[in-house]
Amino acid sequence: MSTTVLRELEWTDLATLAALEVELFADDAWTEPTWWAELAARPRRDYVVAVEGEQVVGYAGIDVSGDVADVMTIATVPAARGHGLGRRLLDDLVHRAEQRGATALLLEVRADNEPAKRLYERSDFETISVRRRYYQPGDVDALVMRKHLGGTHD
Ligand SMILES: CC(C)(COP(=O)(O)OP(=O)(O)OC[C@H]1O[C@@H](n2cnc3c(N)ncnc32)[C@H](O)[C@@H]1OP(=O)(O)O)[C@@H](O)C(=O)NCCC(=O)NCCS
Repeated sequence: MSTTVLRELEWTDLATLAALEVELFADDAWTEPTWWAELAARPRRDYVVAVEGEQVVGYAGIDVSGDVADVMTIATVPAARGHGLGRRLLDDLVHRAEQRGATALLLEVRADNEPAKRLYERSDFETISVRRRYYQPGDVDALVMRKHLGGTHD
């Protein structure tokens, strides 16, 4: 079994991520130009990728603004799911947010995305509000979830 390593996002990953997005997020896929914009928005944006050898098997990122951080995205490839990689990526985001002084990490998740909801609930995120029919088409609600962090912002 190969080892999964977490490392910083690099510009050479962007075409790979844009291709993975189509598979993982379909209609909501981020394009390569979007990924370039995300990379250019560092250090406010902060992304990590999970690799097995040369293969990208997951990725995640945050936006940090003052004492609040937001999860921009988190995903693992289907073949890697159910083995703790999503949790590892989320823990890494929490660590990055805390390092930057954030006291809360927020995210939005589709109300019908059970695997993601369970991942967040088990990581002590709580639902703080519901945006009705936020995802279109399909009229799916968005849950806004928050986790309190240990960071202190000055
Ligand atoms: C959500 C996602 C990142 C989870 O990744 P993963 O690598 O499977 O996550 P893990 O193996 O670390 O599992 C973490 C928790 O998620 C939950 N989970 C994972 N797969 C699940 C499934 N198929 N059904 C229900 N819960 C599931 C479990 O509660 C698990 O915790 P446990 O092992 O303590 O029970 C992955 O399913 C994914 O990439 N989905 C598509 C993209 C997406 O929806 N991203 C979130 C957008 S808000």
